[in-house]
Amino acid sequence: MAERHHIASEEELATDGSRLITEIRGKEIAVFRVNGEYYGVLNYCVHQAGPLCEGRVVGDTEIGDDGWSWVSTREGEIISCPWHAWKFDIKGGKCIDDDRYSVPTYDVEVEDGEVYVRA
Ligand code: FES
Repeated sequence: MAERHHIASEEELATDGSRLITEIRGKEIAVFRVNGEYYGVLNYCVHQAGPLCEGRVVGDTEIGDDGWSWVSTREGEIISCPWHAWKFDIKGGKCIDDDRYSVPTYDVEVEDGEVYVRA
């Protein structure tokens, strides 16, 4: 079973969109705050090994109800790799553009105002 590792206090990740990258047992893992919840993602892009979690936190777009306009969705839920802009769902690690690909994710727990990652 994965061990629990202390990452930070909640105050250090107090706002949505904040992130913290740390090393756990030789792996760089980022913790993101999205809509008040925390998610752990490996800082490794499966495309060409870029530092995925150092990229921009973005949203997605989809076709609106009128069938021709674009609508912004899921703002702050997607990480865009800084090397070639592949996008991944922070919550589950799935690649947005091609669901054959995904990155490892990690459970994050909060207890008494402290944030922990299971890895
Ligand atoms: S290394 Fe991440 S998109 Fe290419």
